[in-house]
Amino acid sequence: MTQVNLNRQDKGFTLWFTGLSGAGKSTIAEKVYQNLKEAGRNVEMLDGDVVRTNLSKGLGFSKEDRDTNIRRIGFVSKLLSRNGTIAIVAAISPYRDVRDEVREEIGDFVEVFVECSLEELTRRDVKGLYEKAIRGEIKNFTGVSDPYEEPLNPEVVVNSQHESVEESISKVMAKLNEMGYLSADMATGGSSPMVGTGRNA
Ligand code: ADX
Repeated sequence: MTQVNLNRQDKGFTLWFTGLSGAGKSTIAEKVYQNLKEAGRNVEMLDGDVVRTNLSKGLGFSKEDRDTNIRRIGFVSKLLSRNGTIAIVAAISPYRDVRDEVREEIGDFVEVFVECSLEELTRRDVKGLYEKAIRGEIKNFTGVSDPYEEPLNPEVVVNSQHESVEESISKVMAKLNEMGYLSADMATGGSSPMVGTGRNA
């Protein structure tokens, strides 16, 4: 039987974006998705907002439900990653212990912390949720009336308040390259980050 040796650049892995609602997780994740797709890689996107309309439909925002949501996303990411696909996740994933649990479970795991101050998020308030949360109309809202535990050792930290989307994308791509997950042509600019429309996460 022929022995097939996979380089790390051919391997699947999970690229996990964590951060507060509206911080820009989906926007950055979708651009990175496009870059990798254009480079010919198999990529899938698991966005919290989307997952909650199917795989996690019916779950709420208690710690238990959020943990269930994250474990489900982690489970699917693991299946994809071990079959050579890059799984990109954009979910608040507020609890450190469950993020670390899925990290352990998956192995090839790259965590991106999308940082943004609560003040800026409240100013942006793209979905109008912060205003409602502050008024008490939405209970257990992450960052307002529910905890967010920042990662202690994320592979990448991006800050959507102080850097452009292009800068954030470049940081992520540079780290993936440094970790050996990208082929040489991508690393040398084989794909250029495209910036344009995008949703906020
Ligand atoms: S997670 O905590 O389980 O990781 P997830 O990323 O799937 O959250 O969903 C977050 C999205 O749900 C937010 O972007 C927001 O649109 C919506 N949402 C509704 N209620 C809440 C809440 N109480 N806290 C945070 N997000 C909420």
